[in-house]
This record gives sequence, C-alpha cells and structure tokens, in this order.
Amino acid sequence: MTQTVLSETPAEGIRQITMNRPDRRNALDRVTYQGLIDALAAADADASVRAVVLTGAGGCFTSGNDIKDFAVAAATGVGAEIAIDFLTAISTAKKPIVAAVEGFAVGIGTTMLLHCDLAFAGRGASFRLPFVTLGLCPEGGSSYLLPLVAGSKRAAELLMLGEAFGPELAQEAGLINGVADEGGALALAVEKAKALAALPPQSVALTKSLLKRGSAAAVAETIATEARHFGERLQSAEAQAAFMAFLTKR
Ligand code: COA
Repeated sequence: MTQTVLSETPAEGIRQITMNRPDRRNALDRVTYQGLIDALAAADADASVRAVVLTGAGGCFTSGNDIKDFAVAAATGVGAEIAIDFLTAISTAKKPIVAAVEGFAVGIGTTMLLHCDLAFAGRGASFRLPFVTLGLCPEGGSSYLLPLVAGSKRAAELLMLGEAFGPELAQEAGLINGVADEGGALALAVEKAKALAALPPQSVALTKSLLKRGSAAAVAETIATEARHFGERLQSAEAQAAFMAFLTKR
C-alpha cells in the first residue's frame, strides 16, 4: 500500500515530512492524519532531528480534509476527531517546523501554516479558507490566530468570503515568511531548516516554546471550541449539500 506520509532525511538533522496522496491533491484522510501525527512525534523523539520540513507531493501542499471523510463523519457523527488530534500535535510540536507550499493549500492546508514556525511558498501557490462556502466554520485555532497575524478585517475577508488568494497576500497576511520561484519552496525551506539545525538546539527549542507560550492556552481553547461547532456544522444541511455538490462535481 502506498504510504500517504513520507519521512525522509534530505540533509543531516532535517526530517522532511511529505503528505503523499498526489492523485487526491494530498487530501487528508484518517490514515494520513495519523501518519502526520506519528511523523511529528517521531521527529520530536529523535535527538538527531534539529528541524522539520513539512511539504506535499506532486506540486501540491494539500487540498485539506478529505471531503469523503467529511461526508462519512456527517453521516455517522464520528471520525472528525483525528483532525483535532493532528492540530494538537502540530500546535504543540517541540522541534521547529518549516513549511514548503507549492500548488494548493486549502482549509487545514492553510490553517496548519499558523502552527508552523516558518513557511515559504512558490509563486504559483494558491491558498483558500473555504469553511463558510462549505457550510462549516473556522478550525485549527484560525479564528484566534488569523486576526492576530493578519488583522481583523483581513481575517474576516479570508475566513468569511473564502476566496482563493496568492502567495503575496499570504505573506502580507502573515501566513508565510516569503515567496520563492515556482517549484522553489522546498529548496528554500530546506535551506532555512539547515540554518536552524546549525544553531544551538536547546536555545532554538527554548525560543520556540517562549514564542508559543503567550498564545498556547488560547490556541488550545480555540481549537476545542471551533471543533465543537465544526462537529455540529458537519451535520448541517448546508454542509451536507456542499459535500454532495463537490463529490458529484456539481
Ligand atoms: N477531498 C477529497 N477528494 C479531493 C479533495 C478533497 N479535499 N481535493 C481533491 N480531491 C480529489 C478530486 O475529487 C479529484 O478526484 P477525481 O480524480 O476522482 O475526480 C482529484 O482529487 C483531483 O482533484 P481536482 O479537483 O480534479 O484537481 P484540481 O487541480 O482541478 O483542483 C483543488 C484542486 C484543491 C482546487 C480542488 O480539488 C478542490 O477544491 N478540492 C476541495 C478542497 C476543499 O474544499 N477542501 C476542504 C477544505 S475544509
């Protein structure tokens, strides 16, 4: 069976974690979420890993939660918890995480960037927070973190209108650090990860934890509150109609 999450060592001290369902635009199903949780835990537990690079296969970051799984969770009332476990894992990871975005970063593909320490995108990248369009609501702590990094008007624009936006706006909104040539995000992310790996690791870890300290409780509380509403929204007629429209390509 194809591994939907790959863990590699592109350079000494660097763990590259790749979301790998290219035929589904790296949509995150339950197996992939679990693979990401395990890969992040393994990186934290391995003293030789100084920095993590998070990316997607096939020129795409991720199209977000697998909509088939959303439809199943809506029908059965179970199955959405694994996304929350992943968000908890990435928001509390100890090693520095550098994201490399090419192509699409949709939904949780964009909100997970709020939990990465650094993020870079290729010029052709496209971001989108289509929660309202899908009859859902913000997740991943984004209703707290996005206004903080982007300002309240920009956050409302991105989270309420749900339109796609490019890397320049993503940078202006504080979602990414910089823009690379198309196809160049991974090389830039690995370069920055190498720079982090060359620094005193305890000092890097302490700095990461201090940077997260002020918002950690609010982020955890927001992830939990959003998850409650999100679970209810999954059952709504609005969301179910949106999933059906996507799955039947209407
Ligand atoms: N969940 C499940 N399947 C998905 C998916 C997702 N999030 N994103 C893409 N796919 C599937 C498509 O259904 C398609 O399947 P098919 O080959 O059986 O037809 C395949 O992956 C390729 O996607 P396609 O839409 O043809 O690719 P594209 O390059 O034209 O567009 C996206 C890419 C990401 C813009 C588009 O697929 C999309 O909007 N996906 C949904 C994103 C979304 O709403 N995510 C949830 C956020 S909360």
